[in-house]
Amino acid sequence: MDYTTDPTRDKYVIDGGACLRGRVHASGAKNSCLKLMAASVMAEGPCRIRNVPDIADVGIMCEVLSRIGLGVEFEGGVLDMMPASEPRLETPYHLVQKMRAAVDVLGAMLARYGHARVAMPGGDNIGARQIDMHLKGLTQMGARLGVSHGYIEGSADRLVGAHVSLEFASVGATENLLIAACLAEGRTVIENVAKEPEIVDLAAFLSGMGARIEGAGTSTLVVEGVDTLSGVEHTVIGDRIEAGTFLLAGAVTRGEVTVTGIDAGHLEIVLDKMREAGCTVDVSGDSVATAVRGELHGVEISTLPYPGFPTDLQPQMITLLATVGDTSFVTENIFDNRFMVVDELNRLGADIRTKGHHAIVRGVPALSGAPVTAMDLRAGAALVLAGLVAEGTTEVYDIEHIDRGYERFEEKLASLGAGIRRVPAGEPRE
Ligand code: EPU
Repeated sequence: MDYTTDPTRDKYVIDGGACLRGRVHASGAKNSCLKLMAASVMAEGPCRIRNVPDIADVGIMCEVLSRIGLGVEFEGGVLDMMPASEPRLETPYHLVQKMRAAVDVLGAMLARYGHARVAMPGGDNIGARQIDMHLKGLTQMGARLGVSHGYIEGSADRLVGAHVSLEFASVGATENLLIAACLAEGRTVIENVAKEPEIVDLAAFLSGMGARIEGAGTSTLVVEGVDTLSGVEHTVIGDRIEAGTFLLAGAVTRGEVTVTGIDAGHLEIVLDKMREAGCTVDVSGDSVATAVRGELHGVEISTLPYPGFPTDLQPQMITLLATVGDTSFVTENIFDNRFMVVDELNRLGADIRTKGHHAIVRGVPALSGAPVTAMDLRAGAALVLAGLVAEGTTEVYDIEHIDRGYERFEEKLASLGAGIRRVPAGEPRE
């Protein structure tokens, strides 16, 4: 595979009005896979990950690992990684700038090699995203860290077990510290950790490498450090955010969509809110089906760390709520700029007002197609959903954001009956 990650400026052209019907299979979870790849830096043998989505962010992480010196092969959803023979312990700015999750190799490089130089991530479109908790935790584990010339420079003879308490259940900090603790000397206890399913998947991957971890999926992780970690084979969990996006696409178009390859337990609060809004939801084995058979109503949503309502589905949910009969209230508690999508939705005729991290969504009878711009991955997905239900044609620009996290998005939507096509770069904007 070609790991090219240059941004394209393709656009989607969507003819609204089709009612989505059918089944679609969830890809492997982006936010799990990227962390498993980071953890592979510590393996002394080959790692194989299955169910890997072919998305731009995985391509960037392949570049990060190749640069460190790992042998990386990605074909047909299977990712093979061979340990680095001559590691180069640096992750440059151009890669961290493209994808913040590149910073997740920091803990792995420090733990395995005692040295790391990683570009300091800046803010991004969904807001300022600090990494102070990552750095504080690693320092408590004995790392010597400094920031100069835009890079975090870290070294440690060997990390040592520590008692770390996170101020906020940050997903990234939990993962970086969990990875590092596996090779630290002695016991590490990390409190107030994130409980996302992707963290449970990471702990399973690390345990397969020989790590000794207890408490994954609870608010306290206890890790007994080991001296070495081996290679492992692992299958990534289904992507709950992608699955939720398709279920909400079904609801927005008042259709019937079944998503397979997913643990419905990972979407519990989302499915509850969809039921509360009036959708029918049926869970069976690894599949979830939703349908709309009557009027939908407004609901209250407040994003929170797992098991709360995921911030990564808030823009898609707001899009659904923009089309229901009455008023909804949405509070965003995780990211400052996650309401950026609102201005674009309002251009499509939605009636959404925001103040700080609150939004009031007054449902409108119809949206109307217009050109709109995707500012980030989830905003882009939400605008596509809006385009599916809007009258007339919607063009969504800057869809490279969507390519970061959705595998064959337009193909999967078209298989459900959506009138969507990708127009390659080069066509002039209106
Ligand atoms: N935060 C700090 N200090 C830290 C770490 C985080 O202040 O040291 C703050 C951030 O500024 C932010 C909040 O805590 O306001 C949440 O950050 P968190 O660390 O939990 O998120 P993340 O690890 O940067 C991951 C996902 C995001 C997802 C969030 C929350 C990956 C690669 N990214 O980000 O996914 O929204 O957790 O669930 O796993 C996406 O897929 O579209 C996406 C943005």
